Order: sequence, then structure tokens, then C-alpha cells
Amino acid sequence: MELPFAESWKIKMVEPIRKSTREEREQWLREAKNNVFMLRAEQVYIDLLTDSGTGAMSDRQWSAMMTGDESYSGARSFFELKDTITRLTGFQYVIPTHQGRAAENVLFSYLVRKGSVVPGNAHFDTTKGHIESRRAKAIDVTVPEARDTQRELPFKGNVSLELTKKVLEENKGNVPFFVLTVTNNTVGGQPVSMQNIRETSALCHKYGVPVVMDSARFAENAYFIKTREAGYQDKTIKEIAREMFSYVDCMTMSSKKDGLVNMGGFIATNREDWYEGCKLYCIPYEGFITYGGMNGRDMAALAVGLDENTEFDMLDTRIRQVQYLAQKLDEYGIPYQRPAGGHAIFVDADRVLDRIPKEEFPAQTLTCELYLEAGIRACEIGYILADRDPFTRENRFGGLDLVRLCIPRRVYTDNHMNVVAAALKNVYDRRHEISRGLRITKEAPLMRHFTVELERL
Ligand code: F0G
Repeated sequence: MELPFAESWKIKMVEPIRKSTREEREQWLREAKNNVFMLRAEQVYIDLLTDSGTGAMSDRQWSAMMTGDESYSGARSFFELKDTITRLTGFQYVIPTHQGRAAENVLFSYLVRKGSVVPGNAHFDTTKGHIESRRAKAIDVTVPEARDTQRELPFKGNVSLELTKKVLEENKGNVPFFVLTVTNNTVGGQPVSMQNIRETSALCHKYGVPVVMDSARFAENAYFIKTREAGYQDKTIKEIAREMFSYVDCMTMSSKKDGLVNMGGFIATNREDWYEGCKLYCIPYEGFITYGGMNGRDMAALAVGLDENTEFDMLDTRIRQVQYLAQKLDEYGIPYQRPAGGHAIFVDADRVLDRIPKEEFPAQTLTCELYLEAGIRACEIGYILADRDPFTRENRFGGLDLVRLCIPRRVYTDNHMNVVAAALKNVYDRRHEISRGLRITKEAPLMRHFTVELERL
């Protein structure tokens, strides 16, 4: 008999979690103004809000914490981290930051000006926020097929070369860089192929536009290249990652994802001018250039995490768990962005709650229903997160309205996935009874989803 698949790790430390009653959850959600970001973590049974900073560190990472060097400048832990990043990416200059958005803040402070145009394959919300808050424009040039949730494509996160060419042509001299996000979180954790990375970079470089890779989930992207793209089957994840980075000019990193740590980020590049420019912003915003917002011990743990998570078995365990949840949803007929992404399943809320108009936020409503059903916290990646257009102040209803079931690394078992799928099925089975959604009662001018307040209609 062929042996079944199992995790490539075993569990050394556990944290109890608790179920609640429906009555408790109704009260808690009311108090949280129907925004799951406002819940207390103890009010959640299975937390799929994000895979960011929520993973479990390994014994090797914890032991690296003990040897962290906390020197203000020139810490050994910084050089351990820098050497690891250089080995994995080929980039010589490394600036640590406290998380991914801080890396964006430092780099964009140097490069983005009012009126700049920054194309990319579906900028993450903080990335878009850092562009728009500088009165610049973020233009999404993801392949249009990504918007058809039922279409199965191996690299649905790809950049449309045609759209990119048009933007570069129309904005000559005004594009400081292109943001290439791997995997493409916003369209469902979908990967970008090596061919597309190569061709996008070649096109941008032809127009003299540098490429910044938003690398939060670069290792998961490399896994998909290895398992889906011809010619990469026999290459290691580390070889593939190195090739991905070889085509771009710079990377910003949220280490809270594929770095397997709870907090951290960095910028890495071979461009000396950018390094010099970033240093000027790193020091006042983040901290001195050999710690930039990170503890020495956290840099030490990150160096180990980056190494661990660029090994095939680690990624195979993780991505198979996401695919396991997807199979369950297939059994129950629940529509999601196909195929399953690297870090999450994105349920197509528009198709599930099809009686609820866009103006009443179907994905946010489904997020609330799933919490009420079983204490599962998912996250809306839809019309609320899309924010208002900064120029017209109209809601942006043009994109997808998804509920993200985002799976932390090395935290939950497949039994938890069974509970998530069953809870979602229960909501799905009574979807026709859900005919009204939510109305916003309070919202921030930018990145409103974190603090938005809503009432049930
Ligand atoms: N880029 C991408 C693709 C991301 O997914 C994130 C964060 C960031 C940048 C910003 O990094 O959180 O360290 O400041 N994504 C998290 C998420 C928050 O839930 O998807 P950060």
C-alpha cells in the first residue's frame, strides 16, 4: 500500500483554543461593529484572518532567538540575516524594516512623487495605500482572466504584458518602478510564472523602468513554478527563487509570511543609489540601518526561517493543506477562486450571497455569517478593502468580492480544515435565507477595512 501524505514536521508546543456559543458570538460581533478585525482573539475559535505573523516558529528558530545579538549597530544577527538574504536572492544591499509595509514606506518615500504612476499585478492594500497617500496612481495590470473565479489557470497571478505596455507607453518618464507581487495575494494567492517574471522585467527594462518584487510569498511562488512550469521540476526551490530575483531590481519583503517569523520585513537590492536613498528614510522611520525596526533575536530567527521555508517539504506540507481545504469546498459545491492559492482559499462571495447587492457588501456579510456559524474568522478581500477611489471618492465595485480563508503556517491541522469547510457548508446551505447585507456607519479615508464600522440591514 502506498503511504499517505503527512506533514514534514511534528508538534512540540501547543496553545489551547476554545469554542464559544452562538449567543456569545452574536454579542461579540455586534460589539465589534460587524468588523472581525475588532474582535478579541479569544473570541475566535479558528483564526483564518491572515497568514501574516501568525505562523509557528520551529525549534531551530527559537534556539536562534537565544543567540540574537542586540547591539545597536553592526549586530552579528544583522550580518547572519544579510548573508542569508544575499545567498537566497543575490541582492547585496539589505535594509531591515519592522514589517513589509515599512519596507514600502522607506522605498516609496525615496521613489514615489505626486503624480507618479506605479503599475503592478494587483498591488496589496498597503502597497496601494503607500502609493495613493503620496497622490500617485497605482494601476492594476493583472491578466484579465484572473477575474473569472471559475477559470482554472496555472499562473493566474500573471502580469498582462499588453496592459503593461500601454501604461508604460502612456506614462513615459513618470513611472518610478513596476511592482511585481508574488504570489498575487489580491487575486487569490495566485502564482506568477517564471516566463512572465522574465518577460515583464524585459518589457519594463526596455522602457527604462525598474522592477520591484513584492516578495511576501516568494517561496510559495517558487513552489508553484517547480510543480507547474515546464523545465523547473528538477530545480530546487532555492534555485528557482534565485532565478526569480535575478530578473528584478529590488525586493520588498514582509517576513511575516514566507520568512516564518511573527514580525519583520526588509528591502534588498543591488542598486547602490537606491540603497543610499533608502538609508535616508530608514534611519528616521525605522531605525539604524543594521536593525531597522527589528530586534537582533528576530533577525536571527528570520535568517533561519528564510532558509527553512525555501525547502520543498515545508512548502509541500503547507500548500497541500490549502488544497485539502479546497477539495472539501469542491465536495460541497462552494465556489472559490480556482485553483486554490498558495496561502488561502478565496470564496467567491458574489456567487454565494447572490441576493445581496454590491452596495451591501456580500463578502463582508459572508465573513460575518461564518463567524456567527462557528467562530471562524476569515477576512474580506473585496469591496470594502478596495476603498474609495481617491479622486472621485466613489466606492470601487469593479474588482472581485472575496472572503479569504487564510491559513497560518504550521498552526492548524486538517481536522481544523474539516470544521472550516463544514461551517461554510452550513452557511452555504442557507444562503437563500440571507437577503440583506451591511451598511457602513463609519470609515477611515484610507485602508478603511481595518477599522470600518457596519450595521446589519
Ligand atoms: N505585500 C503583500 C503581498 C502582502 O500580502 C502584505 C501583507 C504586505 C505586502 C504588507 O506586509 O503586513 O508585513 O506590512 N499582507 C497581510 C495579509 C497583512 O493578510 O495578506 P506587512
